[in-house]
Amino acid sequence: KNDNTKTLYHGMELLSKFYQYLLLDSRYGRAAQSYLKERHFDPETIKTFQIGYAVDSWETAAKFLIKRKFSPEQFAEIGLLLKREFDGKFYDRFRHRVMFPIHDQRGRTVAFAGRVLDNQKPKYLNSPESQVFHKGKILYGYHLARATIKQLSEVILFEGYVDVIKAHQAGIKNAVASMGTSLTSEQVSLLSRNTENIIICYDSDQAGTEAAFRAAEMLKSFNGSIKIARMPQGMDPDDYIDRYGGEHFRNNVLGASLTIMAFKMQYLRYGKNLNDEGERLRYIERVLHEIAKLKKAVERDHYLRQLSDEFSISLDALKQQQYQIYRNEK
Ligand code: CTP
Ligand code: MN
Ligand code: MN
Ligand code: MN
Ligand code: MN
Repeated sequence: KNDNTKTLYHGMELLSKFYQYLLLDSRYGRAAQSYLKERHFDPETIKTFQIGYAVDSWETAAKFLIKRKFSPEQFAEIGLLLKREFDGKFYDRFRHRVMFPIHDQRGRTVAFAGRVLDNQKPKYLNSPESQVFHKGKILYGYHLARATIKQLSEVILFEGYVDVIKAHQAGIKNAVASMGTSLTSEQVSLLSRNTENIIICYDSDQAGTEAAFRAAEMLKSFNGSIKIARMPQGMDPDDYIDRYGGEHFRNNVLGASLTIMAFKMQYLRYGKNLNDEGERLRYIERVLHEIAKLKKAVERDHYLRQLSDEFSISLDALKQQQYQIYRNEK
């Protein structure tokens, strides 16, 4: 089994190099190269992230591996090849896609994500779970980010591959991604071991907002500071960096990140007219609910005071109402 795994790592490393060669040094890579150029990937970034291209053919990877005496069955097991029913031949899973290798903590290639060059679906095709790829244990970009995460004691948690890559390109190297799925407890412990400050910077759309709340919930056991960074509605970090640049992103997105509670308050008041008495009271009630959930008394006190100041309601009244919320929820 160990030998088997070693062979897989070796094969994937070679395949990754081959995809890079196809992108950068073969005529097949031209469309993918201009795609990446249009999306502002610098040549150096492409090298750092070992980005490649799987050509538009059914058996390029299959032939590549077989020629080098790898067993195609083995690579079918980890989802790089697929077996054709009618003649038992192997063909490529990834075709005509920009290839992003996914590395483990030690920098070994353990999986691939392949992106289409246009708007077709699925946008990304990922290696399936396998003996070498446990998605929930990996954060994309971690092997490149770890040193900086430790040094700054801060990590920026993104949703997507390209967000990490664009952040890195903009000099923000403490960047990792949860790869679009819910944050797992293994990923949380990977982060906890290396840092005391987490900034969640998910896409500013409905799905990303909900995912950010879930990630915050997953991070409940985390002892350090957790903040949430937001972009204008509908944008993701990669869009933002392309449009406004890394400096702007650092100052106006990361720099303006909010505590989870402040973010919730902002979220709850979004689109509401707080000059309207009814809406205002409902908002206050919702916020009191959220404050009641906070573990630390000091934090509860802080936000109660903030509410009290903003709406000129006595702290006593707020505390009384909150006490009722506590009682009702027990
Ligand atoms: N994702 C995935 N499969 C999909 C769509 C998304 O695995 N079909 C994961 C990827 O890890 C992706 C992340 O979810 O990076 C976020 O998805 P999305 O915001 O849709 O993609 P972007 O990362 O913004 O991709 P791009 O900028 O290339 O459009
Ligand atoms: Mn999204
Ligand atoms: Mn996105
Ligand atoms: Mn994007
Ligand atoms: Mn986009």
